Parts: sequence; structure tokens; C-alpha cells
Amino acid sequence: MFSILKQYQRRRLRRSLATPVRLVSLTLLVYMVGASAAADDRNPLANDPKAAKAGEYEFRINCALCHGLGAHGGGRGPDLTQVQKKHADSDAEMFQVISNGISGTAMPANGTNGQGVGMTDEEIWQIIAYIRSVEVKAPARSIGNAAHGKELFYGDANCSLCHMVEGKGGRLGPELTAVGGSRTREAIIDSVRNPSRRLAWGLTEATKEFPQEYETITVVTADGKEIKGVALNEDNFTVQMMDRDEQIHLLEKDKLRSFQKSRESMMPKYDADLLSDKDLNDILAYLISLGAK
Ligand code: HEC
Ligand code: HEC
Repeated sequence: MFSILKQYQRRRLRRSLATPVRLVSLTLLVYMVGASAAADDRNPLANDPKAAKAGEYEFRINCALCHGLGAHGGGRGPDLTQVQKKHADSDAEMFQVISNGISGTAMPANGTNGQGVGMTDEEIWQIIAYIRSVEVKAPARSIGNAAHGKELFYGDANCSLCHMVEGKGGRLGPELTAVGGSRTREAIIDSVRNPSRRLAWGLTEATKEFPQEYETITVVTADGKEIKGVALNEDNFTVQMMDRDEQIHLLEKDKLRSFQKSRESMMPKYDADLLSDKDLNDILAYLISLGAK
């Protein structure tokens, strides 16, 4: 999985070097596709098993990277098998979302994801037929107490020391206002129980060439000072990092006495002694309730 992601990042990087002219024509294309979709609001290929099969293939190429195989959700995109959707309840809305992406989130517009000119209308309808075919009709799992979750988040569990939600909290870790809508429950639980297993990417990446992981960086400066923090930006010559006190340091690598990167997260591992399953479930309910607004 990791090597696929690396490949993907490289492709995105290459794409970002392409000319703006392509972007303009793409925008136009997306606009036209969007406009043509508004006409039909039902999927013309609904309940066609052959279309769903073709859609599954398309999905694996274009979407599974974020939404996971089987559309059950991955580290970077929500579970699409839930009937209840945030942006895309009707087929027409789903067509819009897949064509135009969701601005301010990692959900890309059709054709901007390194797959050349993107999918045709027919292929998008095939994907929608596929998504409908895997939706589970079961009621959503029982969720915890969001009000208590909020208390824990800002109180005993100390999450807000490092995470901002709706403009309140710390900055060392990623902003979590949108996390409930963008990651699966399993991915969030895993982030809390095993922070180092899979480091987070920023949720909104509009200003970045490609997503930056929250790697931990430890440096020793020329005058012998050790600084530990998370990576914000890095190139061959410089690194920008934030330390525990939220100070940002921009450092030239060749002036450092030592420079070390590690995949050991700055986030403490919350095992069941530190945070019970019930309390974690309440925090999840809180984070998910933010997404639903
Ligand atoms: C780079 C990662 C990424 C890729 C690739 C991607 N998505 Fe998404 N997608 C997301 C994220 C993140 C969201 C949630 C946005 C939000 O609400 O914060 C999303 C949301 C959606 C939604 C709306 C879900 C809802 O609850 O309303 C649909 C539908 C969707 N994606 C379908 C697709 C399809 C189909 C593809 C492939 C053609 C695809 N996505 C490719 C990241 C991705
Ligand atoms: C000492 C700082 C710190 C504390 C305290 C902390 N975190 Fe984190 N958290 C981080 C950092 C840094 C990352 C990014 C690296 C990683 O993924 O482990 C992160 C990542 C995450 C992610 C993954 C975000 C994503 O985009 O996928 C979630 C979810 C999360 N934290 C939730 C929590 C919750 C819930 C609590 C409280 C129970 C908490 N954190 C407490 C620093 C912290």
C-alpha cells in the first residue's frame, strides 16, 4: 500500500508541474460534465449488474487508493458503503461529487488525479452503480455520547492540547474538525490506539504539492540545541518544523549538527488503560457529530 501511495505522490507532483492551460480546459470540461449530469438525476445504469462490475474495476483504479478496496473506507477517504452519505445521497449528487470533487477536502475532481483525461460520463455512472451495489442496508452502528466526548476531548483526554477543532485547541497535530467525515471509524480508532502505525496526512491539501505526513523530526542545531517536532515542509536544503510549544523553525539542513526523521508519532499511544473503549467511543461520537453539521 505504501509504495502505491509514494507512486501516487510522485504522479501528483509531476502533474502539478503541468501547464495552467491544461487546468483551464479541465475546469471547462468538468463544468460541462457537471452541467450535462444535472439533466438526469437517476443513474441510467442503475441495477445493471454488468455496469456495477465495470464500475468496480474503475473504482479499484481511481478511488480505492483513498476509499479502500470494496469502498469500505481507507486511511484517506470515508466508507462509501454507508447508505447515509454526507454530500451524495442521490445519484445526481453523487455524479456531481465524483465529477467536481469536494473543494477544501482531499476528494479530487474527475481527471485531476493523475489518470489522464479522466472518466467518461458512462464510467462515472458505472462507478455509481457499483457503489449502490455495495451499500449495506444495516442501520448505522450505535454511537457514543457526543457531549461527554467533547468534555473528554477538551478535558481529561487532553486531545485539544495538540488538536484544533472548530478553531479551538493546539496545532501540533492535524486539525480534526473534518476528520469524522473524512476517515473511517476504524482509521480514527487506529490513530488513537496506535498513532505510529500510520502517520496522518493533512486533511486539506489545497495549498500543498502533495500531502505531507506528520513525521517526527529531531535536530541538533550548530550551537548544540536539540529540537523535536513535527515536519511541516521539507525540501533538499531546508526543513520547516513545529516543536511542542508550537514554535515554528525554518532550518537549513547543512547548518545542523544532526537531523533525524522518525515514524514514531509525537502523539502518545492511548491504550485502554489511558482511555477506555467507552470513552474513545464517546470521543468518536463527538468527532463524527462535527462532520454531520
Ligand atoms: C485522494 C483521495 C480520494 C480519492 C482518490 C477519491 N476520493 Fe472520494 N472522497 C475523499 C474524501 C477525503 C472525501 C470526504 C470529503 C469530506 O467530506 O470531508 C470523499 C468523499 C467522497 C464521496 C462523498 C461521500 C459522502 O458521504 O457523501 C463520494 C461519493 C466519493 N468520495 C466517491 C469517490 C469516487 C467514486 C472516487 C474515484 C473516482 C473517489 N471518491 C476518489 C477522498 C478521495
Ligand atoms: C502530544 C500531542 C497529541 C495529543 C495529546 C493527541 N494527539 Fe492526536 N495526533 C498528534 C500528532 C502529532 C498527529 C499526527 C501524527 C500521527 O498520525 O500520529 C496526531 C494524529 C491524530 C489523528 C489522525 C488524524 C488524521 O488526519 O488521520 C487522530 C484521529 C488523532 N490524532 C486523535 C487524537 C485524539 C482523539 C486525542 C485525544 C484522545 C489525541 N489525538 C491526542 C498529536 C497529539
